[in-house]
Amino acid sequence: MIIAANLKTNLTRAETGVYVEELESYMKAHDISQEVLVFPATSSLNEHNGEVIIGAQNAYPTNSGAFTGEIGLDHLNEFSIKTILIGHSERRHILGETQVELVKKFNFYKEQGFKIVYCVGEPLEKREAGKTQMMEYIGAQYEGIDTAYENLIIAYEPVWAIGTGLTPTLEDIQAIHTDLKEKSHAPLLYGGSVKVNNAKEVLELQNVDGILVGSAALYAEHFCSMIQFAQDI
Ligand code: 13P
Repeated sequence: MIIAANLKTNLTRAETGVYVEELESYMKAHDISQEVLVFPATSSLNEHNGEVIIGAQNAYPTNSGAFTGEIGLDHLNEFSIKTILIGHSERRHILGETQVELVKKFNFYKEQGFKIVYCVGEPLEKREAGKTQMMEYIGAQYEGIDTAYENLIIAYEPVWAIGTGLTPTLEDIQAIHTDLKEKSHAPLLYGGSVKVNNAKEVLELQNVDGILVGSAALYAEHFCSMIQFAQDI
């Protein structure tokens, strides 16, 4: 299974270093064979030799250039980073990234052979509008994306479940994952208010290949418990 932590705008570089080492020692001590990904804040990226895979939360589709405030491939190469998160709802909705921009980013990092965790998910009004509208909305987030890309991982994260403590029912998660698996056979993670107390039941669902965890992953101990659940399934 794939257990991923999106640290968002949390943990400094020093704190991230300690965090990742805590994960490494837990994984070593417990013979963890799951794929563990950690996405630190951009300024917390660093070279890492170990089992944990470090990925970028964002980067511009360029090697380098005049894109104030962005980083490019050169900056990721400096730290041997070959994994990137694309299409997170916070980037779509707060930073205003469009599907066209996301596709450019996707294609650029695909060309470089990156492991790409591509996020999709609907806001509350689309969910409340009924299944057809909701699936149309999510379907549009697949437009232009090579769903057969070998290093693709998809994360389904309902926007209204992120950071709110709300989650779809287990039945809903399973149903939507089953539908989304028809769009792509890539591993499919669930994200949105995954905590220690619900991670196990989410991980046990059919067509759930892992989890993408935000706030609860900030505590290494909690995140390690979730890694352990995945290992024990
Ligand atoms: P929370 O786990 O805090 O709801 O965040 C989920 C998320 O956005 C992971 O990318």
